[in-house]
Amino acid sequence: MGCIMAWYDPDGRAPDYDPPFLPEWDDPQWVRWELDHLGELPVHTQEILDNMADVRHLGPTHGAPSEYFENQFIDHVYVQRQGGPMQLYQTYLYTTTWYTGPGILLSKQVFAGNTIYELIANTPVDDGLTKCFHGCLFKGSAATATDEDRAAAKQAQAGALEAFGADFNVWANKRPAIKIMQLKTDGPFRTGRKWYSEFFSSPEDAAKIRAELNGIVHTEGMATPAQANHNIDAGLPF
Ligand SMILES: [Fe+2]
Repeated sequence: MGCIMAWYDPDGRAPDYDPPFLPEWDDPQWVRWELDHLGELPVHTQEILDNMADVRHLGPTHGAPSEYFENQFIDHVYVQRQGGPMQLYQTYLYTTTWYTGPGILLSKQVFAGNTIYELIANTPVDDGLTKCFHGCLFKGSAATATDEDRAAAKQAQAGALEAFGADFNVWANKRPAIKIMQLKTDGPFRTGRKWYSEFFSSPEDAAKIRAELNGIVHTEGMATPAQANHNIDAGLPF
């Protein structure tokens, strides 16, 4: 998908799972991304992954407060389903976002007649230093994407990058959260961190963590996707 995805294991073991692939990448209706190279960020990747549980930042940081929210853990995959009014475009935003392993986020986003997949790849290159890449795969209007679709895709990627930039500003200026203080109505940070820890664990311990976490987690005070008619998951590769 326009990237070289590499598996790093200091013990030299073979990959535990395949990298993600979106069938839409090979569909001429979809406009492929050209990656934004975002450089290095002085933050541990854990802090980036924390956002999967962070339901309460979506309004203040991105202007799209969540009305429904859930997380799901499936072995090496960490899913977030959410949606709510998108204030800037006066529309409703539905998203299903999932990490395949600790470094590759894909997010299906449906809003105002648009469907996109956002990619955020975050790779630790040193202790407390993360390199980031970004792109958007955009669904065109015809069986073969038109020039207008390509222009709209560029705009969509720029818009998504601007939204992502708001997270960047937080990460660039925060101190490490060694222990997270949270309310019950925040998302499942602790569970998300436990999921993330499987990638620093022995295969036996990772299997235990997966067995313990696999399932769906709801957040107090939030509607569920089912209650909000969230219906964008058909065909997603997880
Ligand atoms: Fe965010």
